[in-house]
Amino acid sequence: MPLPSDLPKIELHCHIEGAAPPALVRRLAGRHGIDVSGLFTKDGGYAWTDFSSFLAAYDRAAQVFRSAEDFADLAETYLFASAAEGVIYTEVFISPDHARRSGIPYADYLGGLAEGMARAEAGHGIIGRIIPLIERHFGPEAAHEAVRTALAHLHPRVVGFGMAGDERMFAVADFARAFALAHEAGLPLTCHAGEVCGAASVAEVIDALPVRRIGHGVRAIEDAALVRRLAEEGIVLEVCPGSNVALGVYPRLADHPLIRLRDAGVKVTLSSDDPPFFGTSIGREYAAIAETFALPPGEMLAFTQTALDAAFCDTATRARLQ
Ligand code: HPA
Ligand code: ZN
Repeated sequence: MPLPSDLPKIELHCHIEGAAPPALVRRLAGRHGIDVSGLFTKDGGYAWTDFSSFLAAYDRAAQVFRSAEDFADLAETYLFASAAEGVIYTEVFISPDHARRSGIPYADYLGGLAEGMARAEAGHGIIGRIIPLIERHFGPEAAHEAVRTALAHLHPRVVGFGMAGDERMFAVADFARAFALAHEAGLPLTCHAGEVCGAASVAEVIDALPVRRIGHGVRAIEDAALVRRLAEEGIVLEVCPGSNVALGVYPRLADHPLIRLRDAGVKVTLSSDDPPFFGTSIGREYAAIAETFALPPGEMLAFTQTALDAAFCDTATRARLQ
């Protein structure tokens, strides 16, 4: 049964710089005189070959955004494209570390993104919220600085806090202090784990941090006791199947554990992560999962409902979306 393209969708896991179309990155690089040689493939996509070179390409692409208006354009463009695919609510990850590295004041970065979201909401009805992230591979010192910056600028669209980056580096406990500051400020938490590293990386996060959600978390499937624990504790997975296949976590979508996790009682949602890097979009994620696992629209809608229940927005916003 083909999936209706207007099936309502909610995305909880997309990195805003990772959503930048290559053509936009090329244009801004030209405008700001930034060298992007080697960043693109001949076909116009992003050039990377593995998780490390993906992260490096991401860091380079993020560097071309230099002004509040650059970020307003990026957010508006992404939310517009999402709305056109049926997205009614989206939480995007932003990165104080990347703003600092681009030399843009965080207030301008955040303000630009919020302005782009406001334009998208006014024009297309899509609701956008923001989750600042620390980047694990930049280390605990940078993380501490980043959380302090994020907490000093609590815009109404900022609804949570989290960590992405290279989960092979440092221990989760090294970031516990940064997470504690965000938690004390009342922000709900999410943390990437169980993507390039196995089930133990997911257990490490839920042992060390009071997270409600895990970014990816799919490799929890390698430990049955951990799967039971995720189900019992109601921890939600922000699953990005296309990203996982593109990065070689699973050879084919048919091998992805999304449905096994769901059937074991784990709360799973669908997102696109860094869509142009992985040749995907939120609409394509929904369509590919529906097709590969032969799921009817009702079962696809259940992913949206789980995401709505797990969204970090306030209850009034959630009620508007019900
Ligand atoms: N994993 C870790 N860090 C990231 C990712 C990801 O998939 N995307 C952007 N930063
Ligand atoms: Zn991610």
